[in-house]
Amino acid sequence: MIDLRSDTVTRPSAEMRRVMAAAEVGDDVYGEDPAVNALQDAAAARFGHEAALFCPSGVMCNQLWLRVLARPGAEVIVEADAHLVNYERGAGALLAGVQFRTLAGTRGLLDPDQVAAAIRPDRFPLTPTALVCVEQTANRGGGTVYEIDRLEHLRAVTAAAGIPLYCDGARILNAAVATGTDPATYGTLFDGLMFCVSKGLGAPVGSLMVGDADAIAEAREWRGRYGGAMRQAGVVAAAGLWALEHGVERLAEDHAAARVLAEAVAEVRPEVVDLDQVQTNIVYLEPVDAVATVAALRAEGVLAGSMDDRTVRLVTHADVDRAQVGRAADALRRVFAAVPAG
Ligand SMILES: Cc1ncc(COP(=O)(O)O)c(C=O)c1O
Repeated sequence: MIDLRSDTVTRPSAEMRRVMAAAEVGDDVYGEDPAVNALQDAAAARFGHEAALFCPSGVMCNQLWLRVLARPGAEVIVEADAHLVNYERGAGALLAGVQFRTLAGTRGLLDPDQVAAAIRPDRFPLTPTALVCVEQTANRGGGTVYEIDRLEHLRAVTAAAGIPLYCDGARILNAAVATGTDPATYGTLFDGLMFCVSKGLGAPVGSLMVGDADAIAEAREWRGRYGGAMRQAGVVAAAGLWALEHGVERLAEDHAAARVLAEAVAEVRPEVVDLDQVQTNIVYLEPVDAVATVAALRAEGVLAGSMDDRTVRLVTHADVDRAQVGRAADALRRVFAAVPAG
């Protein structure tokens, strides 16, 4: 099976497993795990921030950042398709006590002027806006990328309102590679960000919060309360560090592979794929009959994700090689020539 459901399905490579087996570890609750500390230092340096915190998942990082950057009873502005709103089981309200104000963007990206108009001041009885969140890349938007000028504009808008700007950067390194942007440039634009080593970078587990030292110290407190403080986590952190050091440039191959898949569909059914939206490693196909399409692809040996009744998603990653991309493209051509429209 060629598994294109998500870039989270990768398994650690032989080299990564060697690094994990050899990791020097300690008790990270005491701050004594050398591999965790090395990964945190590398993550902070990569984004030009003071500190970082290793967490079990991207969702935990997002939730901890909501805790640290917003406050209960306040409002968080976010794009309507964001992971924070759609895929975290209401945790923002439940755990951080925030209310989301969703704005419909374009391909998952917020418009700075729309954000400026939506920010509410802290004046009773208004619900004050405490935080603006962007997602880089925007997963449900199609793996789309915020250009630097749009982020700078958002930064100016939030700074003028005196509120922080946060980035759910689960795939921010895909954006960095796709645009040739130094991750430290992104770092300067956000008060806090998180990125996952468990997605395109290919590590089995983990995500990092990156920000200033005070914010990360507070996040560490909350990570403890949420049960996310780990002990000899260096075994997995070592994989994360290896991924950060060796897996970033390779992301360009995933982007090229996504384009091959999107173009294969466009050859036979141009109306279901927006080639301008294919900017990184994700391809959305809509409108299609998602159940029939996923079943037909499965019969061809390709696993695709159905996001809803009319939307199919393909995600490229380290465990799909060039030959498999070619085979998947052939399968897509056959399937899309045959399946009915959604
Ligand atoms: C944009 C985005 N944010 C956050 C997450 C959550 O990451 P995790 O699955 O590690 O909790 C994901 C996972 O797919 C994601 O796509």
